[in-house]
Order: sequence, then C-alpha cells, then structure tokens
Amino acid sequence: MNSPEFNRLKNLINDHILDFMPVIDQKVSTLYDSMRYSLTAGGKRIRPVLMMSAGLMCGEKEEFLLPFACAAEFIQTYSLIHDDLPAMDNDDYRRGMLTNHKVYGEDIAILAGDALLSASYEVMGKQMLLFLDDEDRLKRLTRALFELTKGTGVRGMVAGQVADVENEGKACSEEMLTFIHANKTAAFIKSVTLAGGYLGGADEQLLSDLRTYGEHVGLAFQIVDDILDIIGDEKTLGKKTHVDAQLDKATFPALYGLEKSVELAMGHLAKARDAMEKYYDEAEVFNYIIDFLESEIIQ
Ligand code: IPE
Ligand code: IPE
Ligand code: MG
Ligand code: MG
Ligand code: MG
Repeated sequence: MNSPEFNRLKNLINDHILDFMPVIDQKVSTLYDSMRYSLTAGGKRIRPVLMMSAGLMCGEKEEFLLPFACAAEFIQTYSLIHDDLPAMDNDDYRRGMLTNHKVYGEDIAILAGDALLSASYEVMGKQMLLFLDDEDRLKRLTRALFELTKGTGVRGMVAGQVADVENEGKACSEEMLTFIHANKTAAFIKSVTLAGGYLGGADEQLLSDLRTYGEHVGLAFQIVDDILDIIGDEKTLGKKTHVDAQLDKATFPALYGLEKSVELAMGHLAKARDAMEKYYDEAEVFNYIIDFLESEIIQ
C-alpha cells in the first residue's frame, strides 16, 4: 500500500511549513521554538494533504493551495498541543516525542497553541490580501476560510472537545458519542476537503462528494483512533495507548465493543470510497487514506 502522490504532497508540506511561520521577536524566541518543536515533530499531514489534493483535482496550482494547507496544519498542531495538556488528556508523548508542555511548560504550551491558531489566520489573511484584485480567487479563498473556521471552532472541533471532556466518566448515549466524534474530528476533516474544493473552484457535484467523503472518513478516523488506543502500537502511533480507558472517555469501543466498532468504521470507509469512486486515479490520495485506515484495524 503506497501513494506516491500522498508522499509527494506530504514532503511539500514538510519542506515549506516553517516558511509560513510569522516573524517572532527574538525576545520571545521560546515561543518560536515551542511552535516549531510541535510543527516539525512529524505528523502524518493528512489534513493539509487532503486539502491540496482536493484543490489539485480542480486544476488549481500548488502554490495557490499551499498557504491554506499549511494553515490547516498549524490548526491541527495547536489542537494536539492543547488536547495533550494536563487539564485535557494529560499526555506525555505526541508524534513520537515528549508533548509540548513536557518540554516548554504548560504556560508556554498554551500560548504556543494560541499562537499557532492566530498564525493560521495570519497566513490565510495574507493570502487573501495577495488576491484582493482577483475577484474569483478572492471569493474562493473567502469560502475556504469560512469552512475551516466553522469546522474547527464552536460549531466543530472546539464544541466536540468540550463534549469530550464533559463526558469523561459518564454513561454516554449513542447520540452524544456521535456528536463528540462528528465535531471533535470529522468536522475538521470535512472542512479541509471542502476548503480544498472551494480553493480549486469545484463544481456542485464535486463539493457534495468531498463533503460526503470528509464526513465519513472523519468519523471513521476517530473510531479507528479509539480502536488503536486499545490494539495499536505505541511506537508506530507515537503516543501512549490505553489512555481512553484510564480517563473513562466516551469512545466507540467503550459503547459498542471492539468488533462492532471495526464494523462501524469499515461502513463509514465504504461510504467514503463510494463518494470518490467516479474520479478514478484522480482520487488516489483519497483512496489511499481509506486503505491506510482499513489496514490499521484489519490485520
Ligand atoms: C490526531 O490526529 C487527533 C485525532 C483526531 C485522533 P492525527 O492522527 O492526524 O495526528 P497527526 O497530525 O498525524 O499527529
Ligand atoms: C483528539 O481526540 C481530537 C482533537 C481534536 C485533538 P483524541 O484525544 O482521542 O486524540 P489523541 O488520541 O490524543 O491523538
Ligand atoms: Mg482528547
Ligand atoms: Mg488526546
Ligand atoms: Mg485518541
């Protein structure tokens, strides 16, 4: 299982992500160090690669897509720094390294997360300023920015994270569990596929398929993450396992058991695959992510 296109786009993100960091005063160089530490710790880059791939499917240029894709990875990195804090999931390892607060302290980790989120909007705002005189591209950038904001904010990831921490140690209903997963993880993933489509000027059909793909892959992504917390390998994952049970988190395996969770994840992945089937080879990256998630839970 391999996708040369996924690897190519991942390398492109890794080569350029630091170029989009705002200039930070030397007097607060710790802030730069802590942001860079987590940005370069080695994430899978699934969200920015998906965004780039959706935009490229529409024929848009890489240079136009790259700033928004890196901005999405800034948001992803901030969300993980905050998710790992003692007040949230209290994790010591992330992306194969010590968590940000373990190295820089809680105060700097909180601020590095804040700074990455603000920096993402600075990067997107700068890209919009560059295209002020190009009405079509400015419209596309605006739509993409709105989508990403919705997916990661109070109507998406942040809402899901609130429900996640508030439901620790509680008997969680199916409805609440779906709300948590749809918001903390699927909303962001859906927003990157849609934002990529908007950036590229996708037609209604493609936008609808990107939405369906993002929703189902997003849900499957968190179900798989829950499953891997039980059956996964810490070295490969780059983070500790068996933490959900310790915190009595609302997860799919906790509510449905492992076997049924695998079945539910596979069902979502099949729906995601259906949505992109008509695009054949153009959907290489989209299909690869489905194959990858399947391979994680089916031995
Ligand atoms: C981790 O996301 C957070 C979840 C939504 C489960 P990833 O598994 O994509 O983490 P990185 O970016 O590759 O580190
Ligand atoms: C994370 O869910 C979702 C985010 C929005 C960061 P988890 O808390 O399960 O993610 P991991 O397992 O720590 O990566
Ligand atoms: Mg969490
Ligand atoms: Mg966590
Ligand atoms: Mg998890």
